[in-house]
Amino acid sequence: MAPSKAVVAHLVVLLVPCLLSVLPFSSLALTQDLCVANMLLPDTPSGYPCKPKGLVSSDDFYSDALARPGPVIAPFNTSLASAAVKQLPGLNGLGIAATRVDVQPGGVVPMHNHPEASELIFLLEGTLFAGFISAETNKAYVKSLKKGDLYVFPQGLLHFQFNTGNTTATAIAAYSNQNPGLQIAVYALFGNTLTVETVNKTTFVTKEEVMRLKDLFGQSSVPS
Ligand SMILES: *[C@@H]1O[C@H](CO)[C@@H](O)[C@H](O)[C@H]1NC(C)=O
Ligand SMILES: *[C@@H]1O[C@H](CO)[C@@H](O)[C@H](O)[C@H]1NC(C)=O
Ligand SMILES: *[C@@H]1O[C@H](CO)[C@@H](O)[C@H](O)[C@H]1NC(C)=O
Repeated sequence: MAPSKAVVAHLVVLLVPCLLSVLPFSSLALTQDLCVANMLLPDTPSGYPCKPKGLVSSDDFYSDALARPGPVIAPFNTSLASAAVKQLPGLNGLGIAATRVDVQPGGVVPMHNHPEASELIFLLEGTLFAGFISAETNKAYVKSLKKGDLYVFPQGLLHFQFNTGNTTATAIAAYSNQNPGLQIAVYALFGNTLTVETVNKTTFVTKEEVMRLKDLFGQSSVPS
């Protein structure tokens, strides 16, 4: 028996929002060619509201944020410079961003993840050992990288890099989100506001070691 017109209409009403909900709403460019972030308004789950077109200029699409190393993060001996939507408002709605990382000899980009983005690194200078860990199997996928090499870190997975050479390693990272997010494992575990006892209980790390790590990565040392 064919469904009645009323049933079909009802199904369409139910299904259309479901189908729309899988469309990439992070892309505000769905109905507009560009949507520069209006930084005077708060960010939303689908990006910043658009700056009025009349106020948009070429500078909104330009940044020299990666022209030089960013500030050094002390215990890691690594500099990080970001070109995400906050630094480059023209990225709003486009689902892309970049950073520059300069790792000194002996330096490390410690275990971290980007909840919102996959990452592609391109090594401009030096050598790095890079890897990530599968969330399903805990298998580590690692690689020694040299100048000109690319490596990809799938979205959300813990990953790291460290310098294996005697010169500073410089890499550019590209992200599949205008705001990749960043959670550094040692800050999350030991720079948090939990007590030593709670961290000990929930991480299986001894109290003595938790106290040592809270000194190293405690709240006051977490870079803003
Ligand atoms: C960072 O540099 C300082 C000073 O050169 C050094 O004492 C420290 O061991 C280095 N740390 C790492 C992780 O390379
Ligand atoms: C780094 O320098 C040391 C001492 O000069 C040398 O023995 C070593 O082979 C160098 N390592 C690399 C990767 O160039
Ligand atoms: C907590 O730390 C103590 C030593 O300070 C250790 O004996 C104990 O096993 C740790 N707890 C867990 C759950 O690992």
